[in-house]
Amino acid sequence: MASGRGGLEEVIAGSTSVSEVDGERGGLTYRGYTIADVVAHLGFEGTVELLWSGVPAADEPPLPLREALAHRRSLPSDCARVVDTLGTTTDPMDALRMGLSALGQFPYPPTLEQGVALVAAAPTVLARFHRRRQGREPIAPDPRLGHVANFLYMLEGAPPDPRRVYALESYCICVADHGMNASTFALRVVLSTQADLLSAAAAAVGALKGPLHGGAPSKAVEMLDAIGRPENAEPWIREALARRERLMGFGHRAYKVEDPRAVLLRQIAERVAAPERFALAARVEEVALAELRRAKPNERLYTNVEFYAGLVLEAAGLPRDLFPAVFGVARTAGWVAHAREQSEHNRLIRPGVDYVGLRGLAFPASAPRRAAP
Ligand code: ACO
Repeated sequence: MASGRGGLEEVIAGSTSVSEVDGERGGLTYRGYTIADVVAHLGFEGTVELLWSGVPAADEPPLPLREALAHRRSLPSDCARVVDTLGTTTDPMDALRMGLSALGQFPYPPTLEQGVALVAAAPTVLARFHRRRQGREPIAPDPRLGHVANFLYMLEGAPPDPRRVYALESYCICVADHGMNASTFALRVVLSTQADLLSAAAAAVGALKGPLHGGAPSKAVEMLDAIGRPENAEPWIREALARRERLMGFGHRAYKVEDPRAVLLRQIAERVAAPERFALAARVEEVALAELRRAKPNERLYTNVEFYAGLVLEAAGLPRDLFPAVFGVARTAGWVAHAREQSEHNRLIRPGVDYVGLRGLAFPASAPRRAAP
């Protein structure tokens, strides 16, 4: 039986112990720990360790994982060559997908070592692509820096400011995993055929690219730019809704209340964004929620993770067109956890479908026939 509104809504597509989304109460936990606690206690490497092993590491940051990631951060030469051939107009999400696909042979089933290699290489691929498209030399990773600080360092070549590292790391932790989201589902479908981790990751990056999933934060800040001033928020949003446009950063398939990551990212944005930018965003959010209630009274539409994510990524100094790919860089952590979980209890994912086409048709006797040799 298909779900009422399509899109597999409310269909249980499997089981996981990696993260739990409670859409009615606005809850998100990683291995049983609330996302607020994870952000308060762990850095990105600590979050990866928690997602992969199921328990927080004894030390923060977990040095063995930090060292393993540092060891795999430089790209294999074939992969670097692929990234270097990409044109300057390549979409950064496509660069991430192609770069990760060129990491080498990662035979099924996915191992922890493969997971380390994938997570470690993702920021290097993106930073290398970004430097090359600017006509600049790539920057080699610095083994003294952590995962997120290294990413900023490889993009810019200067020691990153701790406030910006904090902003970006908080964002990466918030989006490291999220139940059976579209990209994780795509990854699990590919892995269920016993294809390799890199093929599954390519599918996941593809699914993440769309604006209904990972492509929204750059669009949310574009909306802020278009609105420009707090007093423009009301007419702008009313007109957009009258044109039946979607407000980026609002609404969510799972959350029927506020997305808990939006709560955290709002707090972080307030600390790291320019005050006037934050004030504009806060006003836009206020008006958007009121207008969505008015325009869509039967829907429960609240702020999702992407609205304040845009502000946090902007404050971290990232170029806007990298935002979706940075989401992918962070989500590799969750993808690896799901890949391993899928392969440990694998059964081919192959759902049924309601056939709604015609039946029982026959070609007329006069219809042309294909010639047989
Ligand atoms: N702005 C305006 N209307 C909206 C919005 C929005 N942001 N979100 C949903 N609606 C409306 C739809 O137009 C639809 O109304 P209609 O039936 O009258 O046309 C109704 O609410 C239901 O929308 P669906 O698309 O069926 O709901 P779904 O659960 O599939 O939507 C989604 C989830 C895709 C995220 C949607 O809310 C959306 O498009 N939001 C904007 C894009 C966005 O913020 N994406 C990031 C999501 S977070 C993430 O993936 C990490």
